[in-house]
Amino acid sequence: MLVLGFESSCDETGVALYDDARGLLAHGLHSQIAMHREYGGVVPELASRDHVRRLVPLLRGVLADAGVALPEVDAVAVTAGPGLAGALLVGASFGHAVAVALGKPVIEVHHLEGHLLSPLLEADAPGFPFVALLVSGGHTQLMQVDGVGRYTLLGETVDDAAGEAFDKTAKLLGLPYPGGPEISRLAEQGDASAFTFPRPLKHSGDFNFSFAGLKTSVLTAVRKIGTPTETQRAHIAAAVVDAITDVLTAKAVAALKSTGMKTLVVSGGVGANRQLRARLDDAARRHRFRVHYPRLDLCTDNGAMIAFAAAKRWAVDPALARPAGVIEVRPRWPLA
Ligand code: KG4
Ligand code: ZN
Repeated sequence: MLVLGFESSCDETGVALYDDARGLLAHGLHSQIAMHREYGGVVPELASRDHVRRLVPLLRGVLADAGVALPEVDAVAVTAGPGLAGALLVGASFGHAVAVALGKPVIEVHHLEGHLLSPLLEADAPGFPFVALLVSGGHTQLMQVDGVGRYTLLGETVDDAAGEAFDKTAKLLGLPYPGGPEISRLAEQGDASAFTFPRPLKHSGDFNFSFAGLKTSVLTAVRKIGTPTETQRAHIAAAVVDAITDVLTAKAVAALKSTGMKTLVVSGGVGANRQLRARLDDAARRHRFRVHYPRLDLCTDNGAMIAFAAAKRWAVDPALARPAGVIEVRPRWPLA
């Protein structure tokens, strides 16, 4: 079965072709980061308009790369939510239009399910069951995954997501959007012990997170200094990275212990973070579990994870593929 997938929930336009027998045939991605950067964050209306511009050229490129003609596609997958309503509508409308033209069904995909299953695209794919740490710009969740479509929420953030905490504290340090990769780079030159930021809920005994207090602590530290030097900014960045990765690692290890599972799967944009990966790899050695990540370019939003999740869900639930034409998006949509 050949699935053509479209992702447009936020600021990346992604198109991909996944075949359940041959694997990922091609994927194309356009990131809008450069466009949103001058506004310090994603501007929803600009995001929607840019998705409109990118979809056709990306689709042409993906078909050419895969050597596939459009009528060979068996189903069209679209991200139906969660995300920005307008941005979601662009990709969903385009996907439905393609499906109507081809007379093929549409499979609606939950964006987080795409992230969650993305490490399974790798050659060394983890087997079920596993614990998933889903860390993106909008979500921070620990899930128990017993199989495709069988997800139990163990805990999640009660306020800001980890990616959001990176982005907000980066802004306070004068770093451009998106802050995660920038703060990670700056942290490499800093000493995390120069500042200590709080780790809320670290010992709460559940699997919930809280990151909203971090920006206040960083703001207080910056104000106290006045104008931080480059070295002080690096120290603060290192302490922010330390606080976030410490809590994420501690809770992931606790979730593995509590469920008795031996496999951790990490996904979402923050899963690309170098320091988080080093910390989780170290914990995996000490606590004897395996940890899987998607390749770096599939950590952040992409079409490959959408085509892949659709193919996996479709294989176990054929009723998931529905006639094209009735376009529905869900900006808010819980995964469990
Ligand atoms: O999964 P994603 O691309 O989009 C959402 O679904 O939200 O995640 C984007 C988030 C942003 O907050 C960004 O700052 C963060 O992932 N991010 C990182 C890194 N790369 C992306 N955070 C920390 N370190 C990184 N290397
Ligand atoms: Zn995402």
